[in-house]
Amino acid sequence: MKRHITGNVSWIGYIDWELKQFHGDDYAIQHGSSQNAYVVEEEKTVLIDTVWAPHKEEYLDNLAREIDLSKADAVIANHGEPDHSSGLPDLMERLPEGTPIYCTANGVRSLKGQYGDRGWNFQVVKTGDRLDVGNGKELIFVEMRMLHWPDSMATYLTGDNILFSMDAFGQHYAVEELFADRADEGILLGEAMKYYANILNPFSPLVKAKLKEIGTLDLPFAMIAPSHGAIWRDHPEQIIDLYAKWSDDFQEDQVTIVYDTMWGGTEKLAHALSVAVSEASPDTKVKVFNINKTDKNTIATEIFRSKAVAVGSPTVGQDILSGMTGFLAFIRQLKFKKKKAGVFGTYGWSGESVAVLSRLLTDSGFTVVGDPVKVNWFPHQEALDELPALAQAMLA
Ligand code: FEO
Repeated sequence: MKRHITGNVSWIGYIDWELKQFHGDDYAIQHGSSQNAYVVEEEKTVLIDTVWAPHKEEYLDNLAREIDLSKADAVIANHGEPDHSSGLPDLMERLPEGTPIYCTANGVRSLKGQYGDRGWNFQVVKTGDRLDVGNGKELIFVEMRMLHWPDSMATYLTGDNILFSMDAFGQHYAVEELFADRADEGILLGEAMKYYANILNPFSPLVKAKLKEIGTLDLPFAMIAPSHGAIWRDHPEQIIDLYAKWSDDFQEDQVTIVYDTMWGGTEKLAHALSVAVSEASPDTKVKVFNINKTDKNTIATEIFRSKAVAVGSPTVGQDILSGMTGFLAFIRQLKFKKKKAGVFGTYGWSGESVAVLSRLLTDSGFTVVGDPVKVNWFPHQEALDELPALAQAMLA
């Protein structure tokens, strides 16, 4: 069923309470998610985005019950990623032949690339282009290139002043009541930050530039309606303000310690370092994660909000544990900036892990500080006594 948002605008998407993984298995979901599609019913009926293929039948049945599909005038495809577009081929089968699909030039590439050339009537748009929907209202298109795909776009409805922002400003969070002001605020803001850290952070310079550009358009926002999670209705500028902070090399007074361990030596160092940081700076938040016990997206979010990280691994095969190699490859993708890093690890024979960690962290944009804490066999008191100096270097 469609659900009224405001004016002649409705939500018609899928709230996915059961979702546990997104982007294949690359993004761990803790609080469900949604695929938000919308319908604008002015003199023209316009469908904005669709849902992921596993839910397309429900979406299409709901849509067909609610509106006369033979009278639909246009489709807006803000983004070609399958969570929003894989309902499109079946939708187009049910719409009048030649119904225009408004998208960016890259949107044509991604939609044709995924679904083949089906002879769809693509109408390529760029920032500032407008579509008259009647009753004195227009849709204004805003390219959102690399936020987070080259084809990404947002669409603004005048009169009701809604920005259909696509992935930007979204959260993987199932909110039955649809609106951010009805959601659990702690989860909402945590999921919004997690979404930013894990999906948008690599493009932070573009986020900053886009926020500036959107500001120059001088559009009032009554609502920001993303394609995942809750719609921002009460002070929608709050999420714009958060994005402005998050895109500006965000950090809090936090140190995050991540480690992998074989026989507990590196684990002991991690926990002892946590105490050392806390003793040196009682106001600093300190968090410790074994990379095998917490999903990587949650840990990445904690790194995002940290001013410094410490990373530990024992030496194995003259290298680090392979789980840590994979974790740091993921962290590298996120392009964190202006964060310090300390390294630590235990070894039995050759002891390369701290050098490998230093190299990987430097390559990922961290500034490695302090002397590595490199412990032969197991950390006894003498080794633990080295940790305060590492803590100080990270806090400096
Ligand atoms: Fe929610 Fe980039 O798709």
